[in-house]
Amino acid sequence: MEVSTVKSRRPETCLTATLHHLVIASPSPALLATFYQTALGYDIAERDGMFFAKALDRQLLFVAGRAKILEAAGFAVPDRAELERLRRRIDASHWPCRPGGSPLFVESISIRDPDGTELIFGVAQQQSAPLLEAQMWPARLQHVVMSSRDPERVVRFFMEVLGFTLSDNVIDPEGGVRTSFLRCSHEHHSFAVFKASEDRFDHHCYETKDWNQIRDWCDHMAKQNIPIQWGPGRHGPGNNLFMFVHDTDGNWVEISAELEVVEHDRPVGQWPHEQRTLNSWGQGLLRS
Ligand SMILES: [Fe+2]
Repeated sequence: MEVSTVKSRRPETCLTATLHHLVIASPSPALLATFYQTALGYDIAERDGMFFAKALDRQLLFVAGRAKILEAAGFAVPDRAELERLRRRIDASHWPCRPGGSPLFVESISIRDPDGTELIFGVAQQQSAPLLEAQMWPARLQHVVMSSRDPERVVRFFMEVLGFTLSDNVIDPEGGVRTSFLRCSHEHHSFAVFKASEDRFDHHCYETKDWNQIRDWCDHMAKQNIPIQWGPGRHGPGNNLFMFVHDTDGNWVEISAELEVVEHDRPVGQWPHEQRTLNSWGQGLLRS
């Protein structure tokens, strides 16, 4: 991550981490793995009925289960000291937590959020050399978004138990919070949650380098006969350029560029719940 424009360090009372991998359930994990191989350039390996998808700066695991369920999200912390700080923060909150949880981390801890989604924090294994020569355009796994019947409870957990920082809220005309964007680095958000009638996985996002690479990814999707479902556009919160496709289970997949980089002491922003907030260039998809 480029943080050259950021002057302040995140204080030790706040979590420092980056989204590292996701475990996605599917009634057809083999089919889903093939989609991600074609659409996102992942190398796929099958082991014990699980499909491991790996590319430079992005990893997914596909397991058998119901569609549109996120089994787990893995966040990499920079070192063991940060993992220990997080462990102490969780212990102080008395929230249940256990060691381990992911084969992709050398050391990790696992905790479930109030909606039951498993969150794994760990020290990442080094990526192997061949992946550093990946041919496709950059697409670093960057954020994950969930819907929730009670997003305020989820936000409190992410802030008070884990140490995430609130970047922006989207507020409806009655003053209710519809969407919250939370960060665990200098990037505007690595996690977001919006209010909906069910608790489920909404989308995950890859950050590419610039606008031209959004164009290249769109051309790549077109060549693979994968229609763009939303965008290109620009989000209000985060100010990022975006485009979305659907995977074979109907999960939204986003490719983004120019996501806002923020100082630690940036005030929390407030946005109206309207189409222009979701897409300042045009049509918004108000899913909440
Ligand atoms: Fe997103």
